[in-house]
Amino acid sequence: MKKFKGKNVIVTGAAQGVGKETSIMFLEEGANVLMADINNLKLDGIKTEISRYIDQVHLMKVDISKQEDISLMINEIINKWGSIDCVVNNASVSLTKNMMEITIDDWDKVLNINVKGTFFIMLKAAKEMIKAGNGGCIINISSIAGLNGRPLFLPYAASKAAVINFTKSAAIEFAKYNIRVNSVAPGTIDTLMWEYVYKNLSKINNSDEETIIKNWVDRIPLKRLAKPKDIANAILFLCSEEAEYITGQTINVCGGLSIV
Ligand SMILES: NC(=O)c1ccc[n+]([C@@H]2O[C@H](COP(=O)([O-])OP(=O)(O)OC[C@H]3O[C@@H](n4cnc5c(N)ncnc54)[C@H](O)[C@@H]3O)[C@@H](O)[C@H]2O)c1
Repeated sequence: MKKFKGKNVIVTGAAQGVGKETSIMFLEEGANVLMADINNLKLDGIKTEISRYIDQVHLMKVDISKQEDISLMINEIINKWGSIDCVVNNASVSLTKNMMEITIDDWDKVLNINVKGTFFIMLKAAKEMIKAGNGGCIINISSIAGLNGRPLFLPYAASKAAVINFTKSAAIEFAKYNIRVNSVAPGTIDTLMWEYVYKNLSKINNSDEETIIKNWVDRIPLKRLAKPKDIANAILFLCSEEAEYITGQTINVCGGLSIV
């Protein structure tokens, strides 16, 4: 029996990386998945890859920093499949920059997407879950950068700290409706976001990219970057029945990086 047969799931940032992998794993397990991303071209580009799930999937261009896009996305899944069972709030932007050069526009961009976008998707989806009365599950993707001070990632790290924190508040608020809210905090994942980070670190530190990557991976106790599947495995577990007593938690999926 497929674990998520008949469940209706939203995944944001679904055109690549963790969001794409998570969507495909939910599809394999029988779920209907609304795959949302701001990058329409990239979403179009994965149509062949997911063609065998054509009846279970809905691709949608959504900018999560826009309230009207969030409302349209929630309406779309309700009109198409009738309810929302799980939300994976995965879309986000990174910012790697010297702290002394951070601008107000940098803050606005990071907070509008990573914090307010994530929060309002959670809120609007929870309202539908409450209306339907069947509980639900919300996963907010944070980062281990949200656990510590990170001067070269300051607004990003602060945004992910906010995600970890509001996940706890929401878990308390929504527990009475059997809506569980958890967070997954990845370490470093081998995706285009990591490529953006190490290229910028190379410029900031005036060091070649190979050295930046080698030094970074050397610090990880398990001595490798995460694959998107490592993160998706934790997300699907938290959404499964096996995790029915887990709420308000952050699971660090980081090869041990958070403890060194
Ligand atoms: N890659 C890492 O090393 C790393 C580390 C820790 C945490 N994370 C977190 O994991 C999650 C997935 O990261 P990833 O590496 O797959 O990232 P990624 O950059 O590969 O993918 C992010 C996706 O989000 C989409 N997106 C960006 N802004 C959007 C918006 N306004 N509206 C809708 N979609 C938008 C992008 O188009 C992209 O497809 C993110 O929340 C990220 O912060 C990543």
